[in-house]
Amino acid sequence: MSFVQKAIEKLQSQTKQPAVQASTRAPAASAEPAIAVVPEPPKPRAPFQPKQTIALNRSALVRSGLLPDAAASRRVAEQFRRIKRPLLRNVQGRGAEPVDRANLLLVASALAGEGKTFTTMNLAFSLALERDVSVVLIDADVAKPHISRELGLGDAPGLLDALADPSIDIEDLVYGTDEPSLYFLPAGRRSEFANELLESDRMLEICATLTQRQPNAVLLFDSAPLLLTNEGVAVSHIVGQVVLVVRAGVTPRVAVQEAISNIGDGPRVGVVLNQASVTLGQQGYYNYGAYGSPVADERPGG
Ligand SMILES: Nc1ncnc2c1ncn2[C@@H]1O[C@H](COP(=O)(O)OP(=O)(O)OP(=O)(O)O)[C@@H](O)[C@H]1O
Ligand SMILES: [Mg+2]
Repeated sequence: MSFVQKAIEKLQSQTKQPAVQASTRAPAASAEPAIAVVPEPPKPRAPFQPKQTIALNRSALVRSGLLPDAAASRRVAEQFRRIKRPLLRNVQGRGAEPVDRANLLLVASALAGEGKTFTTMNLAFSLALERDVSVVLIDADVAKPHISRELGLGDAPGLLDALADPSIDIEDLVYGTDEPSLYFLPAGRRSEFANELLESDRMLEICATLTQRQPNAVLLFDSAPLLLTNEGVAVSHIVGQVVLVVRAGVTPRVAVQEAISNIGDGPRVGVVLNQASVTLGQQGYYNYGAYGSPVADERPGG
């Protein structure tokens, strides 16, 4: 049984009220009314209906460098199609071997400015194009909530608020977008205990809540650099897959190796070489290397 499944069951056992029915038989004069407890089969919850929706201003996202400009958009879209395929195979259980929690996906990097947020944003749009998948983009870069700010939600309650206060219903904090299968959860108010909160059982509960309504939901986390903060490492311990962004020709090899060892043996790690110039036959130059490039093989034990 998967980790998330266990969390879902825990949630259900906390919220489900057993149906109690009075017996239709007349009670014996001296006896208490007979009570029959009828176990209620778990009901599928209604599809997720966010209470709030935002319009994604693509031109503003291009201006701020989180989406490619018109000249590059087709090429980048093709690159992200390639990047998402192996991730989706794991989500759908069609990979070479099963990946636990494969639908919890973290975009990480060793150092700052390697292209995590750009990758997260473009991957989110690409995944949302899938017919059978919905995406909850989660800003887990709680120290520098880039996406939340870009979307005008820098001060909105979000992940950290829900982690700190178990009475908050996480679904109240998620935004729908004008992209039908794309949802967004802001980072929320900063906390000095962000690290502990991100690695807590409550985090698993939140992930379970966000995925139980939609069996094909992917939670996609943007994060802080693995070697500069602890928060990115904390999230890597929760997820099943990590997309490790490496700035081609810039990130030192030793930094990549250290980042991979910080992630540990839990999640499946694939490397995206960002802003690489690779000539592929007649197809021209690609800014992204292939997902799962040879650097990934340097993972200890990998
Ligand atoms: N493949 C790419 N094509 C074009 N521009 C890119 C690409 N990748 C990253 N950039 C640009 O590089 C800059 C840094 O990218 P981004 O903000 O995504 O990095 P980051 O790893 O999230 O940084 P931080 O660690 O500070 O959060 C941005 O201006 C972004 O537009
Ligand atoms: Mg970023």
